[in-house]
Amino acid sequence: MSEYPKIIQELQAKYDDEQSLRPEKLESFIGQNDVKEVLDVYIKAALGRGEVIDHTLLYGPPGLGKTTLAQIIANEMGVNLRTTSGPAIERSGDLAAILSTLEPGDILFIDEIHRLPRVVEEVLYAAMEDFVIDIVLGRDSESRSIRIDLPPFTLIGATTRFGDLSAPLRDRFGVVFRLDYYNISDLEKIICRTSHVYGTEITADSVHNLARRSRGTPRIANRLFRRIRDFAEIIGDGTITTDICNLALDKLGINQNGLDQKDITYLKTIINNFGGGPVGLETLAASLSEESSTIEDVYEPYLLQEGYIQRTSRGRVVTEKAYDELNIKYYKGLF
Ligand SMILES: Nc1ncnc2c1ncn2[C@@H]1O[C@H](COP(=O)(O)OP(=O)(O)OP(=O)(O)O)[C@@H](O)[C@H]1O
Ligand SMILES: [Mg+2]
Repeated sequence: MSEYPKIIQELQAKYDDEQSLRPEKLESFIGQNDVKEVLDVYIKAALGRGEVIDHTLLYGPPGLGKTTLAQIIANEMGVNLRTTSGPAIERSGDLAAILSTLEPGDILFIDEIHRLPRVVEEVLYAAMEDFVIDIVLGRDSESRSIRIDLPPFTLIGATTRFGDLSAPLRDRFGVVFRLDYYNISDLEKIICRTSHVYGTEITADSVHNLARRSRGTPRIANRLFRRIRDFAEIIGDGTITTDICNLALDKLGINQNGLDQKDITYLKTIINNFGGGPVGLETLAASLSEESSTIEDVYEPYLLQEGYIQRTSRGRVVTEKAYDELNIKYYKGLF
């Protein structure tokens, strides 16, 4: 294809040997440059000393690459990654069972670490600090505690809710990284890489269009890419052209700035039912029939970051920008 831009060809050539949508090396992880730079130093230093890297906490909104980074750290360190999640570990015995089977240098990845039960968390403290676990056997006056030594390991915790982590747990992480929404240019690179992995051709303006409408989130970019590819295969010749890209995104209900139907419902609910706010989280959650945690973790971070809403002490307020976006007249100071 002659109009196939050079920049896309160059980018794709760079990822030539990569098969998987999830980047496997730090080098092929796109964006988050501050995190990458520092991480690169920590990994090299640990490898140089023949030590494990410090316990690391990754936090940020869903779909920005926390799990991917944990896997990359394990790959770069050349160790095993054992994966579990906060809600999956119900009792301290569950955690002890996992910890006692770790090999020296292994990485234990705990996703949604803010959801670890308190009693489990307490076992983790000694494990993180001194590489030991204390297990209490028997009950009451009969009880005794035994101490098990663990091999040196690295705990990587991931969370969308930094604030929900208890202070003692937070303090035991030597390294804390916050992942931010991706800028358009990084998303364009991610989309080029995805098109390469799938072997789907895409025009440069479609790459840009899709990047703009992905809410700064690689997972959303990849998901939309797959849906648009379906359209390209069924109504076109498989190439994602400008027209097909626009058509598909419109059919998916994604507007020019990446807001989807859920965002629009969220904003309209506040405007129509609560006069634009302020409205409290619980009231809003009930109105939308959603969990309040879903609203806080999934709906709101992007709307806040883009300035469509504000969080005040009295509740959520929709901004003038959102009224403009929805073509609804804004009466300043009316309420
Ligand atoms: N920097 C990146 N470069 C390329 N692809 C990426 C990048 N970050 C994430 N991705 C892609 O986005 C998808 C989602 O990433 P990942 O599962 O790591 O997110 P997460 O932060 O763990 O999300 P959650 O909080 O929901 O667990 C991955 O499958 C990966 O393909
Ligand atoms: Mg994840």
